[in-house]
Amino acid sequence: MTEQQLRALLADMSLAEKFGELQQMPGQYYTDDCIETGINAAFDFTEEEVACIGSALNVLDPARIIEIQKQHIARHPHGIPMLFMLDIIHGYSTIYPIPLAQACSFEPDLVRALARATARESCAAGQHVTFSPMADLSRDARWGRVMEGSGEDPYLNAKMAAAAVQGYQGDDLTAEGTISACVKHFAAYGAVEGGREYGYVDMSERMLRQYYLPAYKAACDAGSGMLMTAFNAIAGVPASGSRELNAILRDEWGYEGAVISDYGSISQMYSHGVIQNPLESTKRAMDGGVDIEMCIHHYRRGLPQLLESGEITTEQLDRAVWRVLNLKNRLGLFEDPYHFASPEKAAKLQNCEDFLQLARESVPRCSVLLKNDGKLLPLSPDADETVAFIGPFLNESDLLGGWVNQKVGRITAATLQETLQARFPARDFTYTAGCALLGAEDAMMAEKKHAAFETDADRRCAMLEEAVAAAKAADKVVLFLGEHPQCGGELAARADIRLPKIQRDLFRAVAAVNDTVVTVVFDHRPVELGDIAETSKALLNVWFPGTMGAAGITDMLFGDAAPTGRTTMSFPHTVGQEPIYYNRLPTDHAPEFSPIYITGYVDCPLDPLYCFGEGLTYTDFAYGEVRLDKATLHAGETLTATVTVQNVGERDGEETVQLYIRDPFASVSQPVKELKGFKRVFIPKGENAEVTFPLTPDDLRFYNEDVDFVWEPGEIQVFIGHDSRVSQYKTFRLEE
Ligand code: BGC
Repeated sequence: MTEQQLRALLADMSLAEKFGELQQMPGQYYTDDCIETGINAAFDFTEEEVACIGSALNVLDPARIIEIQKQHIARHPHGIPMLFMLDIIHGYSTIYPIPLAQACSFEPDLVRALARATARESCAAGQHVTFSPMADLSRDARWGRVMEGSGEDPYLNAKMAAAAVQGYQGDDLTAEGTISACVKHFAAYGAVEGGREYGYVDMSERMLRQYYLPAYKAACDAGSGMLMTAFNAIAGVPASGSRELNAILRDEWGYEGAVISDYGSISQMYSHGVIQNPLESTKRAMDGGVDIEMCIHHYRRGLPQLLESGEITTEQLDRAVWRVLNLKNRLGLFEDPYHFASPEKAAKLQNCEDFLQLARESVPRCSVLLKNDGKLLPLSPDADETVAFIGPFLNESDLLGGWVNQKVGRITAATLQETLQARFPARDFTYTAGCALLGAEDAMMAEKKHAAFETDADRRCAMLEEAVAAAKAADKVVLFLGEHPQCGGELAARADIRLPKIQRDLFRAVAAVNDTVVTVVFDHRPVELGDIAETSKALLNVWFPGTMGAAGITDMLFGDAAPTGRTTMSFPHTVGQEPIYYNRLPTDHAPEFSPIYITGYVDCPLDPLYCFGEGLTYTDFAYGEVRLDKATLHAGETLTATVTVQNVGERDGEETVQLYIRDPFASVSQPVKELKGFKRVFIPKGENAEVTFPLTPDDLRFYNEDVDFVWEPGEIQVFIGHDSRVSQYKTFRLEE
């Protein structure tokens, strides 16, 4: 439809039609019954309201979606099609590593490719919008939703959010195989105090702009069709009714996409204690720029009255409706309301060979090898040694992790034991679980997540004994341990981020009888590893790796592929260090004080156990000195920083070279390091690669006291190295 035609359509719509565009219906509404009767008593909608609904959330079956759309168009006064939305977070049916793991690839191209494949499956399955990417910067591993984001760095976060949008949407949303992204949760949901779900956020405007906003902006600039507001209030103002955030989004960034509330974030203003009824909430949300209310009914109750009283203007209403229509038009729904939905095609694409292969290849790129003493990994595929594979993940069929729609997300293609047995039928391997995923100590968590846990003490003992015997008899042990697959995502905040006690007991018992232990850890967050990190000889963090997790892990264990991911969230020594992140502000006492007056704890190091950017692979790299092509960088110029990296190990390999800067003296305190560039490079064994990074004054901007985005003349340090602990740097001057 041309813009003119769309404007004409808007002008011709009744108020009921306009309200309908701003109301989303939960998928349960569209049962067989109610589609026939048109009215569902539980929801108390009139026939006219149902006919005018603009979108639905959580309808899964493509044939059903086609049917609902068909009936809807016939019923709607102007035949305006509905939007179908769903949380498709790390794959539709073929599940890829969790988003946090994807970010660890430091490879926007991979994130783009996975989003692209996800869009192809989802589009055929009838979906139009996915509630992804989550661009919330997260520095606190206690928050369950860190798994949905990219971690603690604003630069990387922005690159990954943009890549995901490009992957889902392609260049043209009318094309087959595309769906609209919906970047969320605007804004700063990742900063909830103590990592507590639905919690509170308070921060300075400078902090918000410098760290938390860049990724949402990058996703908006990449054309994200939709944006979701957040549950949290910031400094007492609910994000879903914030005029300030709306002004940033619409006036500063010029974002024209549709904005949807989070599920209940408008009614949550009641819990925030700032609204008392649907009139107040509707007014605040509309003034805060929310176009669509997700599934709850405040708009429905508030809009008619507010419009009549003039508290909401017709222009305001029309603007909101326009944005929704515009998204429908961007998707080409007025020409093809089904947007290439096809149950047959969906069935063919889901878990097809290409996607399974992509899923498998992505596992090593997203996994982080945290420790590998004596190059224990990879194991030899044909050595004359016995290996005991132990742990509750050995036969776990869910290696997918949180935020997977269990109805469509197929369970892990094969378990680890099945995969290992099939790959090495002749090897002298033993297999035993050793324990359940959760023990009686985890009863509270298990109940909240509807997860099973071990209740039989005798069985627990017997399983442990069997594992100890297997470990004793083996040359090497590979332990598969981790968080419960349901303990990540929404409503999965944890105050204790260690692995379950039943698994720690297993680890200790096994490590006591065999000193060659490789531990593979499944997690949604950087967990507190404690003696698992200390005592294991090799430690491979695979996050939740998805449908092809078992195959991808086996590839890494036996050297068919090398792990190349780098952690994008710091692993703490202890949960007491949270929030912990590398780009902190410098806070020690001045140098004239004795060195004991430094920021930190008396019972724990200041630094994390494993830092941002850290991760090994199966070869080693040596870095030459940082070289800068200029001593002074002026406005309008570009400086090039170069480093030579040599593969000094025994195998070809990939290295993620990272560039950090530090502005040691500025008008406003600046972080001890900030990532400003990264490159993955493949370097054959024994060879060198020259890696270059451009830097411009714009890359060195920050928010000053007046919250202006400026760069200031002065000295800048440039670090290039393996991870955020890099200490070698060169200095240049930044001048007007
Ligand atoms: C979550 C969102 C999600 C929405 C719809 C909310 O509870 O916070 O991230 O997209 O539900 O499922």
